[in-house]
Amino acid sequence: MEKKIEGIVKLYISEIDKAETSGDLIELKVKLFGKNGELTSLMKQLKDVPESQRPLMGKAVNEAREALEEKITAKLKKTEDEEQHQRLMKEKIDITIPAKTSVVGNLHPLNLTRQKIEDFFISMGFEICSSPEIEFVKYNFDMLNIPHDHPSRDIQDTFYIRDDIVLRTQTSAGQVRLMEKKKPPIKMLSPGRVYRPDEVDATHTPCFHQVEGLVVDKNITMSDLKGVLEAFAKKFFNENTKIRFRPSYFPFTEPSVEVDASCSGCGGRGCRICKNTGWIEILGAGMVNRNVLSACGIDPDEYSGFAFGMGLDRITSIIHGITDARVPFEGDIRFLKQFNNQEN
Ligand code: DAH
Repeated sequence: MEKKIEGIVKLYISEIDKAETSGDLIELKVKLFGKNGELTSLMKQLKDVPESQRPLMGKAVNEAREALEEKITAKLKKTEDEEQHQRLMKEKIDITIPAKTSVVGNLHPLNLTRQKIEDFFISMGFEICSSPEIEFVKYNFDMLNIPHDHPSRDIQDTFYIRDDIVLRTQTSAGQVRLMEKKKPPIKMLSPGRVYRPDEVDATHTPCFHQVEGLVVDKNITMSDLKGVLEAFAKKFFNENTKIRFRPSYFPFTEPSVEVDASCSGCGGRGCRICKNTGWIEILGAGMVNRNVLSACGIDPDEYSGFAFGMGLDRITSIIHGITDARVPFEGDIRFLKQFNNQEN
C-alpha cells in the first residue's frame, strides 16, 4: 500500500505540474478526491489493512492527501487568477476608438411637402382619405362629368388596363368615390399617385403626385374656397403671400379657376422662379359641378361644394429649386440627403 501511495503522489505531482488550465486541475481533483477518486478509494481500503499497520498507513494516506490537495489548490488559484486576467484583457474596451455613427435617414422631399400640406388641412378640420390607383373609368371620368369625347380619355393621355379600368389620371376620382358613400358635410383631403403616359423628360414623368381637396355642405360659396386657399398659401409659403384666381375650365367644376400664389422667391417683383411674372400657379379649383353632385346622389339644390387639386411634385420643386422632374424619382442618396433636418 505504501508503494501505491508513493506511486499516486509521484504521478499526480507530475500531472499537476503539466496541467495548463483550471479545467485540467479540476479534472485531476476529481480523479484524486472524487467519489471514485484514487485517494478516496485508498482511504476506503484502509479498513482491510492489518490493524497493526493501519495507523501508519492512515497517516501516510492523509499526508499524501494533504500534500496533493495543497499543491492542486495553490496551482488552481494561480491559473484561475491568470485566466481571469487574460479574460479581462480581452474584454477591455478601448474608449479612445472613435464611435461608429449610424446613418439616420430622412423623409423624401415629396413626403415632407405632403405632410406639411396635410398638417394645414387637418388643422382646418379636413379628414385625410385615399382612393385606388387602379380605378374604374366610371370614377376617373364618367361621374366627374368628363364628356366621352374628351381628349384626356385618349389612350395617349391615359393608361388603360381594360376598357373600363385605368391607372387613375387624377386624384379627383377620389372625390366621387367619397361623395357616393358619404353625405355632406364633407371636408376631405386626398393625396396620392397619378399616372399619365407622358414621355419622360425634365418636366414630365409618367407617375406623379396630386393632392385633392373637397368640401361639400350647405351654403358653400366661392369665398369659402378663396378663404381656405389664402390661409393655406400664407401658412405654406409665408405671411405676405397673396393669391389670385384666373378663370379656367374643368368639366367637374363650374365655375373653374386656376389659382396663383405670389412668388415667395421675390415677393412678387419677378425672378427666375416665377419666370418674371411675380406669380406661381399652384392649383386648379372650382365649385363642384351640379352634375357631379347629382351623379353621387347629393341634391345640388340643397348642397354646394368646392374642390381643388394641386401638383405635389410641382410645388415641391418650386420650394426646393428642383429643376429636373426625374430626380425625385431616382432615389439618389446624394439628392435625398440634402433634405435632412429641413422643415419642408
Ligand atoms: N384634376 C385636375 C387635374 O388633374 C386638377 C383639379 C382641378 C382638381 C380642379 C380639382 C379641381 O378638384 O376642382 O388637372
